[in-house]
Amino acid sequence: MKTLHLTTSKEDINTAAQILKKGGLVAMPTETVYGLAANALDGKVVSTIFTAKGRPSDNPLIVHISAIEDIEKFALVREFPEKAKLLAENFWPGPLTIICPKGEAVPKEVTGTLDSVGIRLPAHKGARDLIRAAGFPLAAPSANLSGSPSPTTAQHVAADLDSKIDAIIDGGESDVGLESTVITVCTNPPMVLRPGGITLEDLREVLGEVAVSDAVLEKLRDGEEAASPGMKYKHYSPKSKVYLVKADDKEYRNFLATLPQNEVVALCYTEDVPFLNCHTLPLGDKDDYGTQAHNLFSALRSADEIDEADTIYVRCPDTKGLGMALFNRLIRAAGFEIISLDSSAPYTLIGLTGPTGAGKGQVAAFLKKAGCGVVDADKVAHKALEDVECIKNLTDAFSSEILNEDGTVNRRILAQKAFKDEESTILLNSITHPVILRLAKDEFECLSAQGFCNIIFDAPTLFESGADTLCDRIIAVIAPKDTRLSRILKRDNITEAEALARISAQKDNSFYTDRADAVIENQKDFDHLRLESLRALGEVLK
Ligand code: TXA
Ligand code: MG
Repeated sequence: MKTLHLTTSKEDINTAAQILKKGGLVAMPTETVYGLAANALDGKVVSTIFTAKGRPSDNPLIVHISAIEDIEKFALVREFPEKAKLLAENFWPGPLTIICPKGEAVPKEVTGTLDSVGIRLPAHKGARDLIRAAGFPLAAPSANLSGSPSPTTAQHVAADLDSKIDAIIDGGESDVGLESTVITVCTNPPMVLRPGGITLEDLREVLGEVAVSDAVLEKLRDGEEAASPGMKYKHYSPKSKVYLVKADDKEYRNFLATLPQNEVVALCYTEDVPFLNCHTLPLGDKDDYGTQAHNLFSALRSADEIDEADTIYVRCPDTKGLGMALFNRLIRAAGFEIISLDSSAPYTLIGLTGPTGAGKGQVAAFLKKAGCGVVDADKVAHKALEDVECIKNLTDAFSSEILNEDGTVNRRILAQKAFKDEESTILLNSITHPVILRLAKDEFECLSAQGFCNIIFDAPTLFESGADTLCDRIIAVIAPKDTRLSRILKRDNITEAEALARISAQKDNSFYTDRADAVIENQKDFDHLRLESLRALGEVLK
């Protein structure tokens, strides 16, 4: 199907109205987000909206009118209660949908199984002109593919629905940027089912008591019914993974600095930008929730266009005023995952150690699959040699011969010097271990902030480095000498003499087993090791 691209000129509005009269689908601008409109009184036509969007058919649609008289004229409601009238007087035309007892003219395709209907009189002139020209109310959900962020420009609509619908009317950027507030007057007190441009505070000023549905700010428990069916679906999500970060300015900026900078997009405040080195998409000034709302969906879409980055870290708004609507959209985009940088967040640190070749790495992989965060001490040690302070102390101890021309540490030369005798090795460790522990602690905090409550510290020299004192619990992995020998030979591509030398340089199994809270004996196959890993984890967490 070829999609017509129209403007809000009188002529184009008439063209669009003709399309609607013939049972077509037209994307129209509104002040909240773009809507995908069809004749609300024709059930058959309405059902094509669901197909075009890929939307679950039990998620009811809002009926858009061009004047308050339309409610009676088209028999849209059985009753328009006093409180609904008050709301209409105060907030229409505008970003408020009022749910009332459904009238007989509204087909079941609009409301699903519900006995109520949502009605909205939009403020955007283009939308009202279109409804008037069509001569009937328009059912219109947001004009995006189901699940993705709502469209706030005609280009967003085209990206999702071009060639799937008859026409798109370009009426400029949506002013509010978030969908309308949905309130039901079928309950007493009236209840907000979806927060939006009209805030809870606004509503309470007019109605007095107003409740907020549980589903607005929290995840529904399995089997729990949403008063507004739309609230139960995954929503507003770009392709990238979204995390909501609850933190103060400094914590947020420091946290982002610990991540791989190219791979990360910060959906942040304007004030954060000078402090960040990753990709940034500022939503607006910190206190300007209006601008943030206006830009949110557009920013979520833009984040997807940054190819090398696939994770979005958004600052978590508070839930006052328009913040409630922002939070409600963001928490859904994030699949209800909040990273709380409250450094008092508790976690259990489990040291994982054992002699070389015993299968520690494999155990770490199993535990990671089982939901633990894992920090690899060897990788942290590698990073420690890039620490400026550490490099300085090493050159003081082992001369500048250990440096490459560019000032980085030549690891091979350092190893030659540091492992030539015991004294040198002790000197090396006394310099690197404190740095390794500091960097490791940063990584524990970071994983904890990401929500991991059990963190594994995979460290071959856990006891020797003193890192065992940081750990709450310790798991040791051991295996018979000949098993370890054949593993090292396979894994490290060295001679048997070299492998034996490595093994004999290490402590006996008993050194590890004496000091651990749980022991894994790795002497059978992979499946056995996996079960043993889970058993040991269970044992230390008991
Ligand atoms: O701002 C808006 O409301 C936009 C523009 C186009 O007007 N429309 C919009 O529609 O956001 P949609 O379909 O994406 O969201 C409608 C929301 C859904 O969460 C739906 O479950 C809820 O309103 N809803 C509609 N009728 C309802 C009813 N009778 N009872 C409870 N919730 C209802
Ligand atoms: Mg929607």
